[in-house]
Amino acid sequence: MTFSAGALRGRSVQVKVPATSANLGPGFDTLGLALALYDELQVSVRDEPGATVDVIGVGAGEVPTDETNLVVRAIAHTFESVGHPLPGLSLVARNSIPHGRGMGSSGAAIVSGIMAAKGLLEGVVEFDAQSLLALANDMEGHPDNVAPALFGGLTIAWVTPEGPQFKKLIVHRGVSPLVLVPSHVMSTALARSLQPESVPHEDAVFNVSRSALLVAALIQSPELLHAATEDKLHQSYRASAMPETNRLITLLRARGFAAVVSGAGPSILVLCSDPSQRLAAAELVASEAETDWQPLMLAVDFKGATVTPLAVESADTPAA
Ligand code: HSE
Repeated sequence: MTFSAGALRGRSVQVKVPATSANLGPGFDTLGLALALYDELQVSVRDEPGATVDVIGVGAGEVPTDETNLVVRAIAHTFESVGHPLPGLSLVARNSIPHGRGMGSSGAAIVSGIMAAKGLLEGVVEFDAQSLLALANDMEGHPDNVAPALFGGLTIAWVTPEGPQFKKLIVHRGVSPLVLVPSHVMSTALARSLQPESVPHEDAVFNVSRSALLVAALIQSPELLHAATEDKLHQSYRASAMPETNRLITLLRARGFAAVVSGAGPSILVLCSDPSQRLAAAELVASEAETDWQPLMLAVDFKGATVTPLAVESADTPAA
């Protein structure tokens, strides 16, 4: 099929993508939860080639504002995957998801770009859920953040020779997430470099049991969340790179809170079994932390990423 970039002239879309927390303790590279904190993006096709990005909020003055921007790269990757020429683009990003804190900001940027491309190509190329996930996983490298960012709720993601797959589950309404966000950042690449090549068989069995239990706890039995969030596959290996995270999690867990590292850290996710527990956990961290930690009491997002067309003018529409 031959496409013309001019066919998209005048198109503009609005995208909204939730933050995520991956791993959830035992579900390393597998489980993820969408959280009601959003990055919003407007993308318009323009006549001049190339791309410009205005960033408002988180990342302003820090992230690239040209074709090297991660959102633009995700749009380009999506167009390239279907062989459609990339039109000139103007982007306005309004970001709320903290960067480098384990809340899925890079996954959200990738999903924003893919959803923007999907919206701009509406009626020209159609994308199903699995191809959206495959595009996102190509860029992120593991599917546990991008699956909940795309689809919302609790997601189980796994990879097959045919590509990444996912199952979305609806979280029990009593489950009340609290994310504690420090002022310092952690690099996912550094966190991944601390993972060993292999783990003891008994640790693997330990995590299989806890992650199976965690799915039951999150959708049906929140009273099991503390037992279900134990982990031996990643948090202890990475603890030296985020000592305060590790210390606060140990303290929270000793007081009965289901606290885990959010994604690759350094934020802490506490999965409370009722909303009132969140205040007690936040107060404990405020009194015990040596640095500033921001408590975010967030709802679970059930919708995932959305894209809405803002204007569609045909290439033949005369200028007013
Ligand atoms: N599962 C990933 C990790 C999440 O912990 O490395 C961060 O992208």
